[in-house]
Amino acid sequence: MNPITPATTDARKGDVVAPTKEKGWFYTDTVKDHFFHPKNFLDGEEDYKDAYLGMVGSPACGDAMKVWLRINKGTDGVERITEFKWKTFGCASAIASTSMLSVMVTENEGLTLEEALKLRPQQIMERLGGLPNRKVHCSVLGDKALRSAINDYYRKTEQTDKIIVEQGRIIDKVLKITDHDIEEAVLEGADTLEKIQHKTKVGTGDPSCIPEVEQLLRFYKEKYFGS
Ligand code: FES
Repeated sequence: MNPITPATTDARKGDVVAPTKEKGWFYTDTVKDHFFHPKNFLDGEEDYKDAYLGMVGSPACGDAMKVWLRINKGTDGVERITEFKWKTFGCASAIASTSMLSVMVTENEGLTLEEALKLRPQQIMERLGGLPNRKVHCSVLGDKALRSAINDYYRKTEQTDKIIVEQGRIIDKVLKITDHDIEEAVLEGADTLEKIQHKTKVGTGDPSCIPEVEQLLRFYKEKYFGS
């Protein structure tokens, strides 16, 4: 996990910044509010042993996230997520974005499972007022843990046909690099083909895959950074 430290100058008092004080690294008031006052954080797991559990780790930083869901039928008879509790070893951005995600999933009677599965990281980002680009990968942790918990629900309620299996598709046949590897590289900040190749070596043994890598680069940049 990247270290973060409180800024010391008056102008930045209360802000959370990277040690480099890099431009564009400041957190919005909404992010800070969710970081300092996280919503639906689970302190003690005893009462949630019967909840649906999702757990993921981040290949980008090694941090982990756990999500517990309670799913009940709403007034319309449709299954909705009525509780979303979470816990993480992640950083301020992971805490703030999962806190916001927990609010978005449970507000107004709770999202249906279908609606929750359609939630995009960009929507969390919009509600937070943005995150530094380098921290976007942290915001994906909660979303992935949510999917994992929904799968746990489908498994335990014997709706196994609905379980979502997210298998990687091989893009570089020589180095066996998948679309998930490209996705992780973009989340870690690779925003050009050269940077993706620097991280993954994709295309060095199989140049024919480069057009597809460029397409994926555009897709994931739009998905996570809106550009
Ligand atoms: S750096 Fe690991 S979750 Fe943010």
